[in-house]
Amino acid sequence: MEQIRTQVGIVGGGPAGLMLGHLLSLRGIHSFILEDRSQEHVIERVRAGVLEQSTVDLLHEVGLGDRLGREGLRHEGIYVAFGGERHRIPLAELTGGRAITIYGQNEVVRDLIDARAATAEPLRFEVDEVSIRDFDVQQPKIHFRHEGRHHELTCDFIAGCDGSHGICQPTIPAAQVKIYERVYPFAWLGILVDAAPSSDELVYSLHDRGFALFSMRSPHVTRLYLQVSPEEDIDQWSDERIWSELDLRLHTSDGWRPHRGPITQKGITRMRSVVVEPMDHGRLFLAGDAAHIVPPTGAKGLNLAMADVWRLAGALDKFYQSGSETELRSYSERGLRRTWRAQRFSAWMTSTLHRENSSGASGSSSAFEQRRQRAELEYLISSRAAMTSLAENYVGVPFD
Ligand code: FAD
Ligand code: PHB
Repeated sequence: MEQIRTQVGIVGGGPAGLMLGHLLSLRGIHSFILEDRSQEHVIERVRAGVLEQSTVDLLHEVGLGDRLGREGLRHEGIYVAFGGERHRIPLAELTGGRAITIYGQNEVVRDLIDARAATAEPLRFEVDEVSIRDFDVQQPKIHFRHEGRHHELTCDFIAGCDGSHGICQPTIPAAQVKIYERVYPFAWLGILVDAAPSSDELVYSLHDRGFALFSMRSPHVTRLYLQVSPEEDIDQWSDERIWSELDLRLHTSDGWRPHRGPITQKGITRMRSVVVEPMDHGRLFLAGDAAHIVPPTGAKGLNLAMADVWRLAGALDKFYQSGSETELRSYSERGLRRTWRAQRFSAWMTSTLHRENSSGASGSSSAFEQRRQRAELEYLISSRAAMTSLAENYVGVPFD
């Protein structure tokens, strides 16, 4: 077995792992990133699109703002639609100028991989047989296989950035963690369309037939989602069926509807909330989806991952500069505060905008729910305080 040494071993080359590697390399701390999928797969995977203000600020601060500045679409508002009307929430006006930026997660990942390639720091794709050991003692180790050869990577710390199906979190003894989970009785069917967006800003829509979301990736690409049952089979959704459902759920009385075009990608994602407490165990630190999953309605997953690795890089820097572990020891507590805040917001957005049609709720309780949702949305658009609450959570509070 080939022996390798690094300071921080990073499992997972998604946004969390790549950004952590970047932040560490700017501080002169060595890391080794292991990713089990191919580079093409990691870049092409269609996922998040909404960057919070603090994520955008961070990307600029760490030298990754060039393409983001040119191609990212800054949005100062969003629409909430119900009862056939669209209502604008002026995010920037309500938050002292903070906004969101539309820039695909795959573009963030592409920029991070390019930045890594410009350093001598290692990033290995298509590794397998990854396992971690000794992470509760001083010299944790990662075993992996790459191009048929077995390696042992000895580290000072391991960062578990391997997402919701990774190996790091399940390796922690069950008695040492508490996992909070809620599974929602719906999923999102998402499509990518070669068509110019027909609105300058996102539209979150509640309709009797369920939730729909209008989003975009660029001036030429529209991104759309439909609430569907978690058991739904994508093969049952022809392009025509998707378009007619989107038309029904999204079109408003002023005649607005999404532009149609060739569908270039479609997929179904189930929705759940997960929080792992604590986010660390000995010398293993979990970050991003490995530590928490939020339903996508609040657009928080990628942004939480960025906040985690910003905090972790700062704490590791403190350790290497002064030997102090104080910040590392508060990493989890500070992260959980932000995570639960994002969970609260995402659960509220989700329950306000989705119809529980497949949940088995009795007729009268779902009728009650529908009227409650309507009251929630009417209050939202009539109260500056309620809109401000949505706006400050949606654009995101500063990293802390
Ligand atoms: P991941 O992106 O999952 O990366 C983990 C990496 O680890 C992967 O590359 C995986 O291949 C690798 N890996 C796994 N196991 C191993 C192993 N054993 N060894 C080595 N590598 C391994 N978030 C937002 O903020 N805004 C949005 O608008 C938004 N929309 C979304 C829409 C959809 C449809 C979905 C599915 C998600 C959305 N999210 C959104 C969530 C966001 O995509 C995730 O939170 C984000 O990808 C988390 O990044 P991560 O690096 O923690 O995890
Ligand atoms: C997206 O553009 O993919 C997107 C936008 C808003 C969300 C989730 C996903 O809440």
